[in-house]
Amino acid sequence: MRIDKCVIINFTKINDRRGNLTFIEGGRHVPFDIRRVFFLYDVPGGAKRGGHAHKKLKQVVIAMSGSFDVVLDDGRREKRVHLNRSYLGLYIDSMVWRTMDNFSSGAVCMVLASGFYDEADYYRDYKKFLKAAKIR
Ligand code: TYD
Repeated sequence: MRIDKCVIINFTKINDRRGNLTFIEGGRHVPFDIRRVFFLYDVPGGAKRGGHAHKKLKQVVIAMSGSFDVVLDDGRREKRVHLNRSYLGLYIDSMVWRTMDNFSSGAVCMVLASGFYDEADYYRDYKKFLKAAKIR
């Protein structure tokens, strides 16, 4: 099932007395070449983000600072993942509906994406997404 492909990736953390360092190489530490990076920040308390699925796009979501939840739904099952470490990434496969909520103050959500922004790749209507998800 699609949702089982959405796993936590544990990036390397290099720790020394000067602090921590984590690195991410496209195609090596995430399962796609990174073509776009975007981030959500200054998210007001109680706000929900996302609320869509992608036809082809694959993403990795990282809590660079603070914390938030990602709710995943592949049309059959749902799971809620809490992200609060900058060395952990949540891989989100295509055809998975996602919503982000429960943002802490100061949270920064960074997303690594396999493709450029393309509105045609989105399902923003949950019913249309469900219809498409059931026939794949
Ligand atoms: P939207 O997809 O609604 O954000 P969320 O992740 O909360 O669902 O995007 C908000 C606006 O930003 C929308 O007008 C599309 C635009 N946008 C871009 O232009 N490029 C991007 O890479 C992204 C992610 C969004």
